[in-house]
Amino acid sequence: MTDQMDSGAAMPLKHGFSIPDVRHDRWAQLAIMARAWAAATGRKESTDRYAAEALAALADLEPLDQFSAFPGLRLIRALHEYLKEGDAQAFAHHAQRIHAALASGAFRHEIAFWEPGQEAEVQASDYLPPSAEADDKHRPYFEVLSVTAVDPSRYEQARHDIRRLRRIDDPFVYELVQVGSFEDAIVAVLANPELQAVVVGDGFGFRSQREWLDLRDILDHSMPLSPDAVDVRDYGLKLAKTIKAIRPELDIYLLTERGAEVLAGRPEAAGLRRIFYGIEELMELHLSILDGVGDRHETPYFDNLKRYSQKPVGTFHALPVARGKSVFRSKWIRDMGHFYGANLFLAESSATTGGLDSLLEPTGNIKKAQTMAARAFGADRAYFVTNGTSTSNKIVLQALLAPGDIVLIDRNCHKSHHYAMVLAGAQPLYLEAYPMTAYSMYGAVPLRSIKKALLSLKAEGKLDRAKLVDLTNCTFDGHMYNPQRVMEECLAIKPDLVFLWDEAWFGFARFSPFHRLRTAMNAAALLAGRLRSPAYRREYDAFRARAGGLDPSDPALLDMRLLPDPDKARIRVYGTQSTHKSMSALRQGSMILVRDEDFGGVHGAFEEAYFTHTSTSPNLQIIASLDLARRQMELEGYELVIRATDMALRIRRQVNSHPLISKYFRVLTAAEMVPAEYRESGIEDYGWPHGTRAQILDSWTRDEIALDPTRLTLVCGTAGYDGTAFKGLLAESYDIQINKTSRNSILVQTNINNTRSDVAHIVKVLGDIARQIEDDLRQGGDQARAAFSARVKALMEDVPDLPNFSRFHAGFRDDAKSATSEGHMREAFYTAYRAADCEHVPLASKEVDQRLKKGPEMVAADFVIPYPPGFPIMVPGQVITADTIEFMRKLDVREIHGYHAEKGLRLLRTSVLPKRRR
Ligand SMILES: Cc1ncc(COP(=O)(O)O)c(C=O)c1O
Repeated sequence: MTDQMDSGAAMPLKHGFSIPDVRHDRWAQLAIMARAWAAATGRKESTDRYAAEALAALADLEPLDQFSAFPGLRLIRALHEYLKEGDAQAFAHHAQRIHAALASGAFRHEIAFWEPGQEAEVQASDYLPPSAEADDKHRPYFEVLSVTAVDPSRYEQARHDIRRLRRIDDPFVYELVQVGSFEDAIVAVLANPELQAVVVGDGFGFRSQREWLDLRDILDHSMPLSPDAVDVRDYGLKLAKTIKAIRPELDIYLLTERGAEVLAGRPEAAGLRRIFYGIEELMELHLSILDGVGDRHETPYFDNLKRYSQKPVGTFHALPVARGKSVFRSKWIRDMGHFYGANLFLAESSATTGGLDSLLEPTGNIKKAQTMAARAFGADRAYFVTNGTSTSNKIVLQALLAPGDIVLIDRNCHKSHHYAMVLAGAQPLYLEAYPMTAYSMYGAVPLRSIKKALLSLKAEGKLDRAKLVDLTNCTFDGHMYNPQRVMEECLAIKPDLVFLWDEAWFGFARFSPFHRLRTAMNAAALLAGRLRSPAYRREYDAFRARAGGLDPSDPALLDMRLLPDPDKARIRVYGTQSTHKSMSALRQGSMILVRDEDFGGVHGAFEEAYFTHTSTSPNLQIIASLDLARRQMELEGYELVIRATDMALRIRRQVNSHPLISKYFRVLTAAEMVPAEYRESGIEDYGWPHGTRAQILDSWTRDEIALDPTRLTLVCGTAGYDGTAFKGLLAESYDIQINKTSRNSILVQTNINNTRSDVAHIVKVLGDIARQIEDDLRQGGDQARAAFSARVKALMEDVPDLPNFSRFHAGFRDDAKSATSEGHMREAFYTAYRAADCEHVPLASKEVDQRLKKGPEMVAADFVIPYPPGFPIMVPGQVITADTIEFMRKLDVREIHGYHAEKGLRLLRTSVLPKRRR
């Protein structure tokens, strides 16, 4: 084997999520083959071979092409004609033209590309983003799926007829894609991200005429229905419901000749945008389709801000940069204006009047933008936050918690949660995520541990104080919970528990039907539906008969699937997301999402908490960008997210299967990130030739903990680099910015910003570095090799154990003998405010060792949070134990919040510790 890149890099259809990417790859291959055929003209053997290959490639494309408007039947037929005639030149010309029009997107605005006979060339500018000065000159383009019983021979005519409805002042243009069955409609919705609307007619069949070999899994996953279970007359409504579950953003129109009025009154009709009686109002349908897309395209806050910026406003207010005069007329800071551009200043204001609305008391376009965000993210309410999810978390926790409440919280949560506990006076009951010691990081908290903590609280009569479960989903490193299962089992123990899911990294997940399986808001909606269903009530009755009498301390409860009482359980779910981390919002743009059946009871406290933490000068551009991020995701989120997912699969494959790169680097697999006991599906790895898409979906559907493939833990210790050094190398020498680091790994993340070129870049860089290591080792001889091995061993094997949370000092516990570990952290935090009540002990001193052996106990005065790994290894009031000291002594990171090496550890003096309460 050479160190060549893998030539079988094309992603097989049964492995990836982005069907359009597979289609584009196939078009690219066809165009290359066609060129080779044209170049080989005259050499009979080659010509025949290329012609046969071109025919096969065309046949391969056909099943995927039929779900997209472009290139359409006529162009495909023309290609077949050239093939039949053996006209290699014409075939190559047209195949290349179609590929270029697809790759550049030029087909969206240049009608000549749609006509076989017409000349049209893709311009370089078609590949470029529109310039900052000029407005995009083309109307946005999308496609509409028509599910119809019409004979396919009439598709072309229907497409033509629809085009004739276009008017010069339509804000968008669209083309029609037509299919004839339920199954084809589902594949189309998955395969064609250009779709924005679906028109469902009458009389279509259920089964597709195709086998769907390599797409059967995704079809079956997305459509857990069989034709026998559905009345033929209900196909339309069932299809609408199924599509809504896959891509909730799509507008669905029902076109029926059977009692439109009766259908309109059925509950399933709620998901439809409109019902039409037959095709009597084609123009109305056309206008409705445009209107529907217009509704998602609307960005009430941003649109208004643009209008505001054009007004000749005189400001006698704060904020001199508003209107830019202090900048552009300055003798010294004019470059600020040139760099940021005039619009930034024209769109600035410290006023909340003139239609700008107030984030603190929204009644106009901010309120509307938030309502639209709630719709987009599947929540009942959404609140914009302009100071990051650090603030969103504090708002939610302050709103929901009162002093003395117990919170079951992952100790590995972002520090904002821990600080919020101090502010609220709530008592954290720290839960431990499973450790991944070899990589100095944590996984997720096993459900068993959460249940155990709740049952222990119940056994000790403290369950009424347990208010909230607080978890990170997905974690920094990509561990996705099964939020529905977690909430279901916890509600079985305490039916009014509230959940905060910190989805700082996971906002994008809503827009892929696959990632969405693991989001909090989706889980809340599914759980609410499930608990209301008659089938669930039967399930619950059977469960109660089995488990109803069990004592809370009975270990059987830990391994049993617990079911909540449908008459008692409340769905109270909060999600926070850093919109800026995974979507096109400016830094600090964040949202709070709410699905709380009892929100009425906390509305006032929520408002107070929002007022507590929100600046009275929120950044207008951040608010506008939240509005825009929502617009983008509702219109193209599906495409962007499935592409980002596949890019991650490509990186995984290239790194782990490349003979040279994989010698020094490795992306951790699902099996390495999630222990087998939480991975019931047994999946080992993602990406071909390992896990198929069917296996990935199986894992995401049923595993207790699953791995988000877009978060790639790349081990670099095996290349002799610690995470921090490798991060620095990538940034300084290769212009690659990555996410967090651990002792021996870095976190590479794909998001909606990445391109296939980015994937190629990082793979090439890893190849270059690996080659350099090989050269250095070859040239350096035995000595260099020994030094390298020692360094790798130190990074990969001599890793410190991760310290668990020890305990709060007895003085900060209500009952030191209690089996549950909650404590008065706020009291400890404020005890440390009196400098005289604290002392410093140098970390490396003998005194530390002596006190560990003989006492008195050392009690932390501060949060101590090393970066990486980024979780608090000490919290105020915590007793410091030997494993924490050992971990700290071995830490080789520069940034440790709450610890000043020159002074040492700050401890609460023994004399000031409260006496034991009980
Ligand atoms: C899990 C988690 N929650 C919250 C935050 C804070 O988010 P923000 O940076 O938007 O304040 C972070 C930041 O990294 C995080 O990792």
